[in-house]
Amino acid sequence: MDTIEIEPSGAACGATIRGIDLRGDLSAETVAEVRAAWLEHRVVAFPDQDLTDDDLERFTRYFGPFGDDPFIESIDGHPHVIALHRRADETASIFAESFHADWSFQEFPPDGTCLYGMVIPPDGGDTLFADQHSAYVSMPAELRTRIDDLVALHSAKVAYAPDGIYGEADDDSDRTTRIVVDESANAIQHHPLVRDHPETGRRGVYSCAGYICGIEGMSTDDARTLLVELYRWQTADEVVYRHRWEPGMLVMWDNRAVLHRATGGYDGFERLLHRTTIGHRQIAAV
Ligand SMILES: [Fe+2]
Repeated sequence: MDTIEIEPSGAACGATIRGIDLRGDLSAETVAEVRAAWLEHRVVAFPDQDLTDDDLERFTRYFGPFGDDPFIESIDGHPHVIALHRRADETASIFAESFHADWSFQEFPPDGTCLYGMVIPPDGGDTLFADQHSAYVSMPAELRTRIDDLVALHSAKVAYAPDGIYGEADDDSDRTTRIVVDESANAIQHHPLVRDHPETGRRGVYSCAGYICGIEGMSTDDARTLLVELYRWQTADEVVYRHRWEPGMLVMWDNRAVLHRATGGYDGFERLLHRTTIGHRQIAAV
């Protein structure tokens, strides 16, 4: 059996896991250890891997069903794998450069996301993770009281509606990542703004301004003001872990516990990662 080493990042979330080869089948014990580390650290990185798309898919399935990925075309032959790709000479804006929780506008958003670095630029392209348990704890009690029982309205329209960021306005760009906008992005989904994590019980804010487009029972202006105030706490330096990529590194994060965003700074270099989502898994009541 593999002997797993877990090294915390020292930031609000994040850890590196070594001593495990993800190309083969994993024992139930190893999967349980990785799952525990994932829940504890919210973001876990596995450096020095050498994975095929089949390996990435098999690893993903240890942690739940595949998620449903709208708006981005999957790669040929792997309907659950999408490619995040930017060419060296690409001029399109950086994809997903604002904080978000993946697909929070879905009825059952993904529990997690796996991202495997294949071509990684020498500098830039870090991913930022903002720990929402730490953010919630760091807020003034008065603000926590104000948000505790609110219900947020989520939608993909700002990004993926035909008039969204990746819609008509993006048509002239030479973006390589295959984004497909459509009217379904205008649908609204309701989720509690603050929730206890279904597996760890830790309280945190779920998603943020961007996919959250309103608050139940609140005017648009009041909701926007609150979401902006909240966003400052949600993304404060103290709760952010900056992840540096290496080729052959797999990262898995808990979409229920962290926000994340891409960064640029690598113009002139190619960057390619393959991604799967871990779908929502009903947790049996105990
Ligand atoms: Fe994302």
